[in-house]
Amino acid sequence: MLTIDKRQYEVQKLVDRKETSSYYTDEDGMKVVAMMLEKLNLKGDFSLMDPFMGAGITLSSINRFVKPKKVIGIEINEEPYELAKSILSAIYDDVEVVCGSAFKFGWDYKADLIISNPPFTRWHRVKNRDEILKTVVSKGYGKYISRKDAGLHVLSIFLIDRILNEGGYAILVLPASTFYTSQASGVKSFLKEFYDILYLVENVNKPSFSSGSEFKELIVVLKKKEKQNRASKTHFDSIEHSQPHNSSEKCYEHTNNTEIYQYNGTLKYLYSANLHEIKSFIDRNWLSLFKYDEAKKLSQFLEEGINQGVLRYLKRDEIMVGIQMYGPEFFFIPNKYWKITKESEAVITINNGKDTIEIPKKYLIKCLRKPEYYMEKTYIDDPEFYILSIDDPPQGDLERYIAWGLGQNIPALSLGSEWYKHIWKQIQTKKPYGHIFLHNKIDLKRHRILANYSSKPLCASKNFFIIKTNNSLIAMWYNSEVMRDFLKIFGRKISDSWIELLVEDYLQIPVPADNVDDKELASYIKKWQ
Ligand SMILES: C[S@@+](CC[C@H](N)C(=O)[O-])C[C@H]1O[C@@H](n2cnc3c(N)ncnc32)[C@H](O)[C@@H]1O
Repeated sequence: MLTIDKRQYEVQKLVDRKETSSYYTDEDGMKVVAMMLEKLNLKGDFSLMDPFMGAGITLSSINRFVKPKKVIGIEINEEPYELAKSILSAIYDDVEVVCGSAFKFGWDYKADLIISNPPFTRWHRVKNRDEILKTVVSKGYGKYISRKDAGLHVLSIFLIDRILNEGGYAILVLPASTFYTSQASGVKSFLKEFYDILYLVENVNKPSFSSGSEFKELIVVLKKKEKQNRASKTHFDSIEHSQPHNSSEKCYEHTNNTEIYQYNGTLKYLYSANLHEIKSFIDRNWLSLFKYDEAKKLSQFLEEGINQGVLRYLKRDEIMVGIQMYGPEFFFIPNKYWKITKESEAVITINNGKDTIEIPKKYLIKCLRKPEYYMEKTYIDDPEFYILSIDDPPQGDLERYIAWGLGQNIPALSLGSEWYKHIWKQIQTKKPYGHIFLHNKIDLKRHRILANYSSKPLCASKNFFIIKTNNSLIAMWYNSEVMRDFLKIFGRKISDSWIELLVEDYLQIPVPADNVDDKELASYIKKWQ
């Protein structure tokens, strides 16, 4: 049913995939797009465009579902551009394709329907990122760009908005992070303001809808709202959508609801949600819409906890990321090369199979290294690693250890002649000590312990978030079923099983209040079970 030439995927081998984000929409993705087009049932002399067309899969494959009058595509890589040109010209009568950057050539185009899978390139990999950002801001979208490192996919949405006629439709394959990270919070409010968000679809067979991509993606279908005095009109015939799911209403103009679907070979309708009414955690993370009933229940449960005084929010100065380490096999002791052979009040003795060195304890701080070392139990008596925190000019054995480090070519060497001081400097400025240690990446299928506790203040690497407050119930809470369910519903999914949170997320997650005792907390948690 889809018109795809296998060369359209093969051509990806000829380009720098990472640099240009050449992960073309796969067959699952295009099947979903086709099903969405069937729902929209678009007719008339409309134009179809993909400003990031790759080899033209998004434009060619759906030719049985739409009859556009004109087809427009832009692509930065030459080989896929050439292929798209020949394939599209064979299918459609009026084709206009451009080889170059859409951020340079795209702004003056107009289209009624855009089907696109915009590039999702890591911000630091985008060569002319500042120029692109400046252009997007100059077009009036600055207000919706929450952070400078917004991501190319976020900026692409603004370009697409500029191209799309009012009343027009966009079907976009977007990284799921668009719907939960703070970088994208601006684009979410932009979409709510100027678009009807008709459908959201996730793939349950695998995370993405793109070939070769491991990142979770969603397909979103948008309709640009029409203003009273619209400057640009669409060229659709009066639209009669297929019936919304389980609804007697004829057309989306009459409802503000977004239909949520899962794809697993066929489309499964889950719920309808009014995105203008969703609150707090659910609004912050639209992925929770795929578990809407549970999300609503858990949100309510947590709100009750706050109202009853069992829970409270963390304060900003209570939580921090652990120490950044440029060369863990040097700064952590023991490490891959050096074992501790003896320990006294004042020094440790280390050996690497060749040399023996004594390091005074005044340069050593107890520090948690990686979460996987602390998965057995919540309580930590001894993290079993020190970090080396040096301020004075090194002498004696310490000088020998530093000389060894020099030969190891560790990343900290790029920090200049006082590279060995960088841990000490962080300790001075950040004071990264605390009692609760939250693991930064969590695999709910494998990990039972998500947080550790120490009654003595300890340091931790940046693989942990450190909470300064000395309250073991906070760790107990993070290891409870409530938090596991919370993460399942609201966590930032990196791939299928990993969940990543940031400080700002933790600030939104309530924790046990200071005056609550373990019995009270346990009975509250039990209510959830
Ligand atoms: C995720 S792929 C999607 C390709 C195609 N739409 C599809 O789904 O098969 C993103 C495409 O955008 C192209 N691209 C990246 N940056 C671009 C830019 N600044 N202007 C135009 N195309 C760009 C890449 O080369 C790649 O082909």
